Amino acid sequence: MKLAQLRQRKIVILLGGQSAEREISMQSGQTVVSALQSLGLDVLAVDTAQPNWAIQVQDADLAFIALHGPGGEDGSVQGALQTLGIPYTGSGVLGSALAMDKKRSKQLWQGIGVATPGFTTLTRNTDWQGVVDRFGKVFVKPACEGSSIGMSTADTAMGLQQAYELASQYAGEILAEQFIDGPEYTVAILGDSVLPSIRLETANEFYDYEAKYLSNETLYQCPSGLDAREEADIAALSLRAFHALGCSVWGRVDLMRDASGRFFVLEVNTVPGMTSHSLVPMSAAAAGLDIAGLVQRIAELSLAEVQ
Ligand SMILES: Nc1ncnc2c1ncn2[C@@H]1O[C@H](COP(=O)(O)OP(=O)(O)O)[C@@H](O)[C@H]1O
Ligand SMILES: [Mg+2]
Repeated sequence: MKLAQLRQRKIVILLGGQSAEREISMQSGQTVVSALQSLGLDVLAVDTAQPNWAIQVQDADLAFIALHGPGGEDGSVQGALQTLGIPYTGSGVLGSALAMDKKRSKQLWQGIGVATPGFTTLTRNTDWQGVVDRFGKVFVKPACEGSSIGMSTADTAMGLQQAYELASQYAGEILAEQFIDGPEYTVAILGDSVLPSIRLETANEFYDYEAKYLSNETLYQCPSGLDAREEADIAALSLRAFHALGCSVWGRVDLMRDASGRFFVLEVNTVPGMTSHSLVPMSAAAAGLDIAGLVQRIAELSLAEVQ
């Protein structure tokens, strides 16, 4: 689609919402608003925390979803827009819902041989020592949260129970995953293209909330330092993991690499952060695409899907 055609469309940016990631979404949404305005498009920002948000979008030609976390990224808003007949950016209902649920994502990947850390679901009655005997060190996380919320590591039965208590403050199931001791990567996907991988390094025990949003000391390397064959490997694995969940248009796959050099998929993000210092814009820039070009491409790909 030509830019001139896009300029004739009424585009609404959905931002804010009611998840724990509301503040990040406000920033992502602002970035998208500025990017579309810089292309000469007339846009309207709508906060989905407002009860009448659906009325404000009803005559839109495209809803640009800049919502993160449950409610905005999990298929709910996508389903509402679909029912209203409004085209929207990114993955559909199924891909969004599956990607938000780390347990079902992993079950699906295990079923088709996409490498993901081994795991078990924790309940109040779990044999804590049994889990430690099986996996050694584990990483405990709520299955349906983002932003590293409620996560910690454990390598003893008592520590595991404490990690479970911490994670159970959040809704949904709780996973204990095989701890991967190694570097962390993230891979952005745009249409059928895989953008250059980014290597993340934090001095914290893992890439926690502080390292993600507050620290100036988290290191991001793009290009990530992988050689051409490894870059091709991580790209193919990421695209496969993304497509397996039924995701489309754009997203970001988080991975880790163990001591033997093998990559493991942690999760897929269907509405990754879009602030000026977020990872997808960083990777797009390395591929020669500025933020306006990136946002334009997401809009074009999304409109092409509904035609
Ligand atoms: N199995 C694991 N082994 C080691 N570290 C992990 C593991 N799973 C997650 N982490 C760390 O926790 C961070 C957040 O986990 P992730 O599954 O990406 O959830 P989200 O980003 O949705 O909060 C990762 O970026 C990584 O630093
Ligand atoms: Mg992540």
